[in-house]
Amino acid sequence: MKQTEAITNDSQPHILPFVGGNVREMSACQAILDALDNKPSVMKVYSNGQLMQKPDSFLPLPHEDDVAYQRRLRSIYECKTFLIYISGIDDRFAPEHLDWLRGCVRRFRPKCRHYDLELFFGWYQATPGGVHSEACFNAHQVILGAKAMLLWRPDSLTPSSEKTMRIDEEIYINSDVITPPDWRLHASRGDTFVWPERYWHVGESPTMSAAINLAAYP
Ligand SMILES: [Fe+2]
Repeated sequence: MKQTEAITNDSQPHILPFVGGNVREMSACQAILDALDNKPSVMKVYSNGQLMQKPDSFLPLPHEDDVAYQRRLRSIYECKTFLIYISGIDDRFAPEHLDWLRGCVRRFRPKCRHYDLELFFGWYQATPGGVHSEACFNAHQVILGAKAMLLWRPDSLTPSSEKTMRIDEEIYINSDVITPPDWRLHASRGDTFVWPERYWHVGESPTMSAAINLAAYP
């Protein structure tokens, strides 16, 4: 297992500590509401591992703070695990974070031209769906709290038709067949996980965290 210190080799997952100066402190509630204001293409809410068919009541109320929001979700809606996932956010969202993430991507993949901007918020043992891989380079900045990313080299897990499920560009792998990760990286507010295309990964956030992910495609 690798340690968590930064490695500058772009062929391996690693963490970039934030060095960009002052970044506006965002509450999770504000981040979610801002992301929803910026024309996302997808918004999903998972409570206790289940995809919610009527997600709107799980969103922050106007002017609700993070403490009240979390209390509402945990005690009133009994969300033992919870995730809001928003993607396809336009690039007016969180400009300081986006500038930083674009810089991270340019360092390793200067030719990437297509980006998907995503927001993850919640607390969970593993992101719903579990271990998966995509054809993009990822820069994933924690903006609130702390989380871990478990990663495997593309050839460390052997997908086969009965063990994997393809959803759009993502490949999910049955967690019963998973060996210990090649990396278990921990990041807190400001730090950015980066990992190359096709590396298997899953996030862990036992306590509340929020993160912005820039997925970069050639
Ligand atoms: Fe992913």
